[in-house]
Amino acid sequence: MPSDKDGGMEFPMNIVVLAGGTSTEREVSISSGTGICNALRSKGHRAILIDIFCGIETFVEGDPFPEEYDVAEAAAYISSFNDKIREMKKERRSFFGPCVLELCQRADIVFLGLHGANGEDGRVQAAFDLMGIRYTGTGYLSSAMAMDKGVTKQMFRMHHVPTPRGITMTKNEPVHDLKSVGLGFPVVVKTCCGGSSVGVYIVQDQTEYEEALEKAFSYEDEAVVEEYIKGREFSVAVVDGKAYPVIEIQPLSGFYDYKNKYQPGATIETCPADLPQDLTDLMQSYAETGYKALGMEGYCRLDFMMRPDGDIYCLEANTLPGMTPTSLIPQEAAVLGMDYPTLCDELIRISLRKYE
Ligand SMILES: Nc1ncnc2c1ncn2[C@@H]1O[C@H](COP(=O)(O)OP(=O)(O)O)[C@@H](O)[C@H]1O
Ligand SMILES: [Mg+2]
Repeated sequence: MPSDKDGGMEFPMNIVVLAGGTSTEREVSISSGTGICNALRSKGHRAILIDIFCGIETFVEGDPFPEEYDVAEAAAYISSFNDKIREMKKERRSFFGPCVLELCQRADIVFLGLHGANGEDGRVQAAFDLMGIRYTGTGYLSSAMAMDKGVTKQMFRMHHVPTPRGITMTKNEPVHDLKSVGLGFPVVVKTCCGGSSVGVYIVQDQTEYEEALEKAFSYEDEAVVEEYIKGREFSVAVVDGKAYPVIEIQPLSGFYDYKNKYQPGATIETCPADLPQDLTDLMQSYAETGYKALGMEGYCRLDFMMRPDGDIYCLEANTLPGMTPTSLIPQEAAVLGMDYPTLCDELIRISLRKYE
C-alpha cells in the first residue's frame, strides 16, 4: 500500500464513514454510507462503516482501520438495528453509540454519510469541532440554517435567491386562513426540518390543508407553508463554491416524494438537464449564491422548481445530500468526467481545507 502525500492528503487515510442514526432517513443513510465506504476503500483508503447511534461493541486496539474489511457485513450489522431504534432511543442518554467517538478521534477524517436530524442539522458538527474531530461537509451553523427551511428562505431572500412565497408557523399558532397571509391554494405544507419529502404535502383546498397541518405537526412543532410552483424540477450541487451541471428530475407520477426518490425507475433523472444555456447559467448562479447565503463550506445540493415561463425558485439546500453511487450529485459529477470513488475522494480533499 503506498503511503504518500496526494495533493496535501495523507495516503492512505484512516476514515470513519458514519451512517445510520435515528432520523427518518436512517435507511437512506445506510445506503449512502455503504457506497461511500466501498468507494473510499477502492481508492486504497482504510475506511470503516459505523452507525453513529448503534456503534460497535469493540475494535482491535492496534488496528481499528484494518486493511481487510467487509463493508457488506458492516452494513448488515447496522441494518440489524433498524427495528430497534425507537426502543433504544428511550433507554439512551448519549446519541453517540459505543466506540463511535473513540474511533472518530483516531480517524484522519470522518465522512458524514448521515441524513436528517442529528447529523445534517449541525449538532454532530458542533460536537466534533469541540472534540477536534475532522469531518466532511459544511460546519455547524450553515448545517443548522439549511436544516430549517424557514431560516433558509429568509437567508435566500436577503441574498436575492428567489424562493416560493411562504410563511413559517408553529403548532401553537397555526394559520388557518391562508388568504390573510397572502397565500391561496394550491400550497405546499412541509415540516421545517424534514427531509426525503417526509412531511411534505401538496394541498388543493382547506380540508386537505387542515389534514396536512395535523400530519406535519405530528413530526415537529414548526412548519413552512408556501406557494405551489407548477413546473419542472431540478437540482444543482455546489462543490467548493462552484456549481456542478444541472440535473432534471421527472417523477413518472406525482411529485418527488419518498417513493419517487428511492424506488428505482420511478423517476427520470437527466443530466445535464435539457435547458437553454441562459437558464442553466441562471440556475447555477442562484445555486452558488444560495450556497454563499447560507455560509456553506465544502459542498451541498440545492433543489429548484421552474415555471414554464422560466421563473426559477430555490426550495432548499441539502448539506448532506444522498451519496449512493446513483444519487444526484454522483450523476452530476459523472457529467464532469468524475467517477463516484473520485468524487468521494474529492469531497474529502475539499472538506480538509476547513482545517488548513
Ligand atoms: N413550493 C413547491 N412547489 C412545488 N413542489 C414543491 C414545492 N416544495 C416542495 N415541492 C416538492 O416536494 C419535494 C420535497 O420538498 P423539499 O422542499 O425539497 O424538501 P425535502 O427534500 O427536504 O423533503 C420537492 O422535491 C418537490 O418535488
Ligand atoms: Mg429536497
